[in-house]
Amino acid sequence: MKIGIPKEIKTREYRVGLVPGSVRELTHNGHEVYIETHAGAAIGYHDDDYKVVGATILSSPEEVFETADLIIKVKEPQPRECALLRQDQLLFTFLHLAPDPRQAEGLIASGCTAIAYETVTDSHGGFPLLSPMSEVAGRMSVQVGAHNLEIAQGGPGLLLGGVPGVEPARVVVLGGGVVGTNAARMALGLGAKVTIIDRSIPRLQELDHLFGARIHTVYSTIDNIERLVSNADLVIGAILLPGASAPKLITRDMISKMRPGSVVVDVAIDQGGCFETSKPTTHNDPTYLVDGVIHYCVANIPGAVARTSTLALNHATLPFILQLANLGGEKALLQNLHLLDGLTVCNGHITNEAAARDLGKPFLAPSLALAA
Ligand SMILES: NC(=O)c1ccc[n+]([C@@H]2O[C@H](COP(=O)([O-])OP(=O)(O)OC[C@H]3O[C@@H](n4cnc5c(N)ncnc54)[C@H](O)[C@@H]3O)[C@@H](O)[C@H]2O)c1
Repeated sequence: MKIGIPKEIKTREYRVGLVPGSVRELTHNGHEVYIETHAGAAIGYHDDDYKVVGATILSSPEEVFETADLIIKVKEPQPRECALLRQDQLLFTFLHLAPDPRQAEGLIASGCTAIAYETVTDSHGGFPLLSPMSEVAGRMSVQVGAHNLEIAQGGPGLLLGGVPGVEPARVVVLGGGVVGTNAARMALGLGAKVTIIDRSIPRLQELDHLFGARIHTVYSTIDNIERLVSNADLVIGAILLPGASAPKLITRDMISKMRPGSVVVDVAIDQGGCFETSKPTTHNDPTYLVDGVIHYCVANIPGAVARTSTLALNHATLPFILQLANLGGEKALLQNLHLLDGLTVCNGHITNEAAARDLGKPFLAPSLALAA
């Protein structure tokens, strides 16, 4: 199969769909890989590194999209990329389609088969391709939160862990999945006082087992969220309803009750955000204020540590990419039901039920859309 890797074009997005080591696996399996020039240069993977493992370097995204049967990206296709996609093409990347009607129109119009990393599943009910990025974003959320609590950033001048004789900062993590657990681990490591809120009792039990008495676990109700958020120094939003837009669990009213200079980091912003006051920001201008509360809502947090993130993502995506390339899209999707869970747009139809509902579009079952 001909596999294409365009250079990412979102603001300060330096990740790349495939590292040279992954390209080697594909060329070793008899596939042709075409990569846009300088696609990995910012993180130390140069055109020569790709040539050595058998890739062909192309000079423009147009050439990559024109040549390839399977496009591998990191972030959702931007409008000018959607315009290059075609009916007989497979796209494998993060989509986060539910809150993005413009992208939905572009993918529907292209007729391509788009598989979203974030809804591919595993046999434990997890999301193996979202998970590595959630690990990174969870850990980063505490780094950026701690940084924004500093005076120079407009924060209240708090050190997350305090010092002997001075209380640590209060960190509230909303959603105790992969992002939330990694955020809690980092915040605990820095000495903060950490509370995790989740609506899943089994998950709260696991967290209790994992961290013991070092964290507080709290069941998710409006009452509990309101009480804890209003008293927090740093709140991290880490909710996920797979495929759907995030629920706005933290209201403007709750934000207005927080102390000025407190920080909120809405990691769930890629699914629309779980704070009523959230709007997506970029690494160029990551924060803004609402009622004196600093909001950090970068939709591609792992892009800040692009080399680590690219490697972690490649380890997770490579087995699925090999399967798509070795079997062809339709056969791979029908043989691997976990991959089929990622199918989001196919032959002009939305095939993820939650995304279709949030977008107000008709839903077609993946197996029917593949046959269409
Ligand atoms: N901004 C970024 O760069 C970035 C990077 C990675 C992941 N994310 C996003 O972070 C979010 C979390 O991802 P994850 O991998 O941790 O998901 P996850 O499925 O592992 O965890 C989500 C948690 O939210 C909990 N939850 C759901 N509804 C809840 C409610 N009403 N109250 C409390 N808890 C609730 C679930 O029980 C689950 O434990 C997702 O939106 C994901 O797309 C963003």
